[in-house]
Amino acid sequence: MSPSLLFSSTSHVNDGDAHTNGVVHSNGQLVNGYQKAHQDGFGTRAIHVGSEPNPETGAVIPPISLSTTYKQSAIGVHKGFEYSRSGNPNRNALESTLASIEAGGAYGLAFASGSAATATVLQALGPNPHIVSVNDVYGGTFRYIRRVAAENQGLEATFLDLESASDDEVFAAFKENTKLVWIESPTNPTLRLIDITRIARLARSHPSKPLVLVDNTFLSPFYSSPLLLGADIVMHSLTKYVNGHSDVVMGALILPAEHAAFADKLRFLQNAIGSVPSAYDCWLAQRGAKTLHLRMKAHGKNALAVAKVLEKEPGVLEVVYPGIPGKTEASKRKNALAWKVLAPHAIKFVGSSPETHATSAPPAEGFPFSGMISVRLRGGQEEAEKFLTSLRLFTLAESLGGVESLAEHPAEMTHGSIPPADRELLGIGDNLVRLSVGVEEEEDLVADVVQAVRAATGTGASKA
Ligand SMILES: Cc1ncc(COP(=O)(O)O)c(C=O)c1O
Repeated sequence: MSPSLLFSSTSHVNDGDAHTNGVVHSNGQLVNGYQKAHQDGFGTRAIHVGSEPNPETGAVIPPISLSTTYKQSAIGVHKGFEYSRSGNPNRNALESTLASIEAGGAYGLAFASGSAATATVLQALGPNPHIVSVNDVYGGTFRYIRRVAAENQGLEATFLDLESASDDEVFAAFKENTKLVWIESPTNPTLRLIDITRIARLARSHPSKPLVLVDNTFLSPFYSSPLLLGADIVMHSLTKYVNGHSDVVMGALILPAEHAAFADKLRFLQNAIGSVPSAYDCWLAQRGAKTLHLRMKAHGKNALAVAKVLEKEPGVLEVVYPGIPGKTEASKRKNALAWKVLAPHAIKFVGSSPETHATSAPPAEGFPFSGMISVRLRGGQEEAEKFLTSLRLFTLAESLGGVESLAEHPAEMTHGSIPPADRELLGIGDNLVRLSVGVEEEEDLVADVVQAVRAATGTGASKA
């Protein structure tokens, strides 16, 4: 194997909090002895893996490597890098950080956007594949499936409500050529929560054995570890929580050790298609990832407070936040599932015990579960717009997952590319607003949403 191939297939292995840290080659051999002895937690891995001090200069923070090409001492003899599209020190460093913090990950691949990661993994399925996708998928993913992969690759998709579909309904959706199940959980923007373990079990039991991919953008590697729940691939729009500062567009795919061959195929496509991120963006995203655990705790605590206060407002019909039990049987089921699927490191944060968590019930007062909330207001488009423009601290803007709070109107903004009839069926009505709760002071955010709801709906003091 050439040195560059060897390098490009290095990755970091971990299996949750009780992991063996180590940088491995594709043959599974540990090559970084320093990590062997440690059973480091999430935040420690986020800060240290991929960020080892520079051996030449001692620099604690990796330098930004802007060179597009690398000296060879003889033809084909180099230090692991030839040309920056096929490999770059900052990209490699970020990829090993990602493979480490996404529990169960061994291979990380960074792309120029989340959408580029989506395109690359769907390309890897070859001609005329069938996929099953959650119906309420991110609008851009829906557009790629329908307008690009269907038209150019012959990809056929069955969209299903994977939250409510029975085992039989899911199983019946699989075909002979089903190559992939696309899960987003919670979905964007209606926050349907999918039981990844159940879907992975159904996929494995079907003769076509489709791979299960989870877009983990909304929960980030801090709240959810899909690979530990049976998923084969995790996808992220790093643009959101992982970078966390709304200044980088980037995406990633992370795979476990048993998918070395598929990871190699994706690595080939990453280089061949060429939708790779810049060295500077990789450096920024890696810096962002170092505080992911701190930010996610703050996002979760603030979102829980905002969700609870909004629930009491007469101007609010429904608050969708999986961390609270809500008022219906369906929302209580969602809350129980959210509790059950928390990542090992998040279990510690919410105050649960790793030993008894699996059999415990969620706390009645709710628990932090990332920073995304969807709200159905009393009224329609007019009230939604008034709410969004009355907010003082939440900025009316697309995107999510940054330190600053954002709010948007899915029907006309992020999900405008979904046909109105489909939006209606999905529950993306004119009165739906989506909040990305940031890490500002909790009481300021709470006061802001309360005044905006009251201004928009003409309602007064809260229900209880
Ligand atoms: C859940 C989800 N997946 C994927 C994407 C696409 O990522 P990007 O905008 O980085 O291409 C987004 C973007 O909003 C998203 O919200």
